[in-house]
Amino acid sequence: MTIHAGIVGVGSKVPDKVLTNADLEKMVDTSDEWITARTGIKERRLTDYETATSDLAYEAAQKALEHAKVAPEEIDCIAIGTSSPDTLFPSVGCILQDKLGATNAAAFDVSAACSGFNYGLAVASALIESGQYKCVLLVGADTLTKYIDFKDRNTCILFGDGAGAVVLKPFIDGSGILANHLAAEGAGGKHLVMPGGGSRDPELRKSRYMSMDGKEVFKFAVRALETSVQKVLDKSGFKIEDVDLLIPHQANVRIINHALKKLRLPKEKVYVNLQKYGNTSAASVPIALDEALSEGRIKKGDVIVLSGFGAGLTYGANLIKWSV
Ligand code: ACO
Repeated sequence: MTIHAGIVGVGSKVPDKVLTNADLEKMVDTSDEWITARTGIKERRLTDYETATSDLAYEAAQKALEHAKVAPEEIDCIAIGTSSPDTLFPSVGCILQDKLGATNAAAFDVSAACSGFNYGLAVASALIESGQYKCVLLVGADTLTKYIDFKDRNTCILFGDGAGAVVLKPFIDGSGILANHLAAEGAGGKHLVMPGGGSRDPELRKSRYMSMDGKEVFKFAVRALETSVQKVLDKSGFKIEDVDLLIPHQANVRIINHALKKLRLPKEKVYVNLQKYGNTSAASVPIALDEALSEGRIKKGDVIVLSGFGAGLTYGANLIKWSV
């Protein structure tokens, strides 16, 4: 009897405030035409000053729990992929545990930037497969717009805020997360950095804003997306033709299209919503998963591949046979 972790509930939350490409035209030397052609993004959502990552995570988690019909006390473990925690400690996981009243849950954050949800899914899956936990809440949540210089046109056009959550339980019917692949290329970490505020710079003498070498990250991202999908296919024994839907990290439609060509996967089998939200970091994959599900793009038995890549540099993917 093989145990796999299956997703039984999904939820997401994005802030109400919309920042369009036209708004950005008034802030930096850019144009809707340039942003659309180079990234595919039309608008993104921004949190206000008072709203922190745990606030979005809480709303997404509540929706996922409701969808799964799971009470907070039933959760054994909470994991959150984030690189924009409310505070260095306590973790967003612990803040969320308290807000939800999930008094029986262990709680921690997964720091893998935009790959945080895929990393978290692999960890959650292992915790369930081992028999240690029977109900895990996994959230991907980020508010990276708080760490962006809105005078830097290289980065301010790309990012938005949001959160997505899933509830995982054990399945013994051959469905669930059947394979995952995680990888890191630490040597490339310098291409995407948040320099200020860590123990290397506790007094914030360096910039508090992210810096990025877009071209290097682009090349890495295409390679990471292709490799991660290929690796989970190889591990699970499925072929690219078996994939019903690929949900990649929503960073740039050109990254996705380049990788699709290499993978020989038709566009109809890929979910893209980055035009509405930009790059929401660890939240992008679970937000897209939630929307794909509500649009009827996923049904029981479908083979779904989730893939992420980001700062670190990190990347990873999970192959899921949909359980419910
Ligand atoms: N508006 C208008 N012009 C611009 C802008 C802008 N916002 N930004 C750059 N330009 C100009 C440049 O100055 C350059 O002009 P020049 O030819 O006169 O020198 C020209 O446009 C081309 O610039 P490039 O940097 O070569 O543009 P590129 O095609 O590489 O696109 C982009 C830039 C969109 C950032 C792309 O490199 C990219 O998407 N990279 C990946 C970024 C990414 O996904 N990061 C997130 C990773 S996930 C995580 O963990 C956070």
